[in-house]
Amino acid sequence: MSSSVSVCFALLNFIVVVYSSEYVTLKYKQAEKKPVRLFTDEDLVKYNGQQDGSPIYMAVKGVVFDVTSGKDYYGRGAPYNALAGKDSTRAVAKMSLEPEDLTHDTTGLTSDQLKSLDDIFVSVYKAKYPIVGYTARRILNEDGSPNENFKPEDQPEFNVKDEF
Ligand code: HEM
Repeated sequence: MSSSVSVCFALLNFIVVVYSSEYVTLKYKQAEKKPVRLFTDEDLVKYNGQQDGSPIYMAVKGVVFDVTSGKDYYGRGAPYNALAGKDSTRAVAKMSLEPEDLTHDTTGLTSDQLKSLDDIFVSVYKAKYPIVGYTARRILNEDGSPNENFKPEDQPEFNVKDEF
């Protein structure tokens, strides 16, 4: 009798171990998707279109787009090259290439300019260019704490919600 009880325990133990190892494997399955990249200003400036053959990146509203396919706009000597390699949100909102507008800062923009920014963000940047990451400024506050207002943009090639 006692031997059949211990066989029973051994069996139960075996089932529990097998079940829980399966659970652990599932729970901690490695992410298969490409990680989202965070760009500081110094990272972003490397992709300003000045080097032939290198990708060209620019950010709008803290979202970093690969605009290499638009190198006739953003490449070296192209009309909008000043927008590349940085977060040019204010310039896009105001349709301006003035140096003081080549910034993420949207302070004091009119509601028409903010509306225009959103329209261009969706109809040009999200529609034409892949997202390669986010600016560090968008994700983190000045003190390094997470920015609670961060809202990842949905892109079919990766699901940012899985990454954080
Ligand atoms: C005389 C002034 C300008 C003219 C004639 C002009 C003309 C154009 C044209 C023809 C396009 C292409 C539209 C298309 O085929 O989809 C374009 C796109 C664009 N323009 Fe201008 N533009 C001017 C000034 C500006 C300025 C000052 C900015 C400042 C931010 C600007 C930002 C853009 C942007 C962001 C695009 C979209 C580029 C892309 O598709 O990636 N433009 N512009």
